[in-house]
Amino acid sequence: MLLLALETSCDETSAAVVSDGVVRANVVSSQVRLHAEYGGVVPELAAREHLRNLMTVVELALRQAHTEPTGFEAVAATRGPGLPGALLTGMRAAQALAFTLRRPFLGVHHHEAHLYSPWIEGEPPRARFDLFEPNVSLIVSGGHTLLVHVEAELSHRVLGATLDDAAGECFDKVGKMLGLPYPAGAHIERLAREGDARAWDFPRPMLDEPGDDFSFSGLKTAVRYHLRDHPTLVGDPQAVRDLCASVQAAIVEVLVTKTLRAAQRLGVPCVTASGGVTRNRALREALDQACAEAGLTLRLAPAALCTDNAAMIGVLAERKLLRGIVADDYDTEIAPDWALG
Ligand code: KG4
Ligand code: ZN
Repeated sequence: MLLLALETSCDETSAAVVSDGVVRANVVSSQVRLHAEYGGVVPELAAREHLRNLMTVVELALRQAHTEPTGFEAVAATRGPGLPGALLTGMRAAQALAFTLRRPFLGVHHHEAHLYSPWIEGEPPRARFDLFEPNVSLIVSGGHTLLVHVEAELSHRVLGATLDDAAGECFDKVGKMLGLPYPAGAHIERLAREGDARAWDFPRPMLDEPGDDFSFSGLKTAVRYHLRDHPTLVGDPQAVRDLCASVQAAIVEVLVTKTLRAAQRLGVPCVTASGGVTRNRALREALDQACAEAGLTLRLAPAALCTDNAAMIGVLAERKLLRGIVADDYDTEIAPDWALG
């Protein structure tokens, strides 16, 4: 099945061409520089920027895949959750194309697509549903921190989520306090490499509490108080590196411990992870080590597909359509709740 997928839920405009599980094109135009000036994503600007770039991104994807719109047998787009104005741009473009071609349209849940991105591998990227195992999946980005039990293919249950800030948001807000550019996650990771993670003992929020929820705002506040109590710290490069390493260690420990705990409790053979924060090498290595020790398979989304992309939307949409799932046809609900069970 030749399928076009669009993703415009936040600040990445992306179009992908997927065919028989193979990602034949995945073009991503990031708005990160536009929003950096404001220290975060400005919803109205994001929507306008999607409108400005979407057709160029689609054109590039068509060229990369050596195909024409008339060749598409289905069209998909992210239907939510995300910024409503931003989502509308991709949804409407995809629906209009599907309508014109008289082909099915499928609205895809953004988080559900993240759940399957770790199953995409190789070059060209190919979805390996044939390798699927029940798993506990960690989705960590600037907007979300979720633990999900994927009991079977296309069947999942949310175990927990952040009660306040997402893990990526915590990286970004700590970065802001340190005067680092937005988004700060990669900058903190770079500085942390030469820092001492044991320099400061920051809280590990909700680590010892039962349940699978997360909370990161307390950690952010602890860093704020720490900087208030150590006013010269920001001017000392080594102290900044130590702080970055200590904060990163706290975030990584919470994410890894809670993910592994859920996986062992549920008896799944596999752990997966995706979302922008999964680019963090300390997190990848810690998950790798913990899963090896626990005898669990680990599947991490490829670096290029950790952040938002249309490839994961297309891969999931094709899988659903091939199984006759067209329930989301022309679904106009933009930000539905995560379907439980
Ligand atoms: O998935 P994503 O592109 O967008 C959404 O938020 O949906 O994730 C972006 C987030 C930002 O918070 C950014 O700081 C974080 O991912 N991030 C990282 C790294 N690279 C990106 N966090 C920690 N270490 C990284 N290397
Ligand atoms: Zn995402």
